[in-house]
Amino acid sequence: MTNEQIELVTKSFEKIAPRADEAAALFYNRLFELDPALMNLFKGDLSEQGLKLIHMIGVAVNGLSRIDDILPAVRSLGARHAVYGVKDAHYETVGSALLWTLAKGLGPDFTEETKEAWNTAYSLLARTMKEAARTAEFAR
Ligand code: HEM
Repeated sequence: MTNEQIELVTKSFEKIAPRADEAAALFYNRLFELDPALMNLFKGDLSEQGLKLIHMIGVAVNGLSRIDDILPAVRSLGARHAVYGVKDAHYETVGSALLWTLAKGLGPDFTEETKEAWNTAYSLLARTMKEAARTAEFAR
């Protein structure tokens, strides 16, 4: 990712973060609209889960400029996701629900460049998580 992309992701995340509850609700509605079968994977309280998701995205966003430091945490997150029953294809659905949520939440601030920057950041995280899921002992 370029420094400019990292800045676009960071600045736009700062705008959404104070409305994490709202963003999480939008995200899950959209996700389950795209694939209702995914509802079966989520066992816990969704509003709590939503906040965890936003928190983790925040951690990842803050870590983009020192990506090597956060990759181990992203890998173990990926391995845990395999245990939750998450499959490779689900990352695409989650990615489009995430981008849709950002578009809704940011409105005109969600420029083409910002979209591209988020796409790059999410793809990097998703790729790392999927790789970790494949190599995790318990996922074989
Ligand atoms: C970059 C992508 C993702 C991030 C940052 C992320 C983040 C998180 C975090 C922080 C948790 C809390 C539990 C833990 O730390 O292990 C979690 C749980 C979970 N995530 Fe994700 N996730 C991502 C992608 C996905 C995808 C693609 C799916 C598939 C639908 C998914 C489904 C779940 C489920 C089912 C749980 C457990 C919830 C429960 O049992 O209530 N996640 N995720």
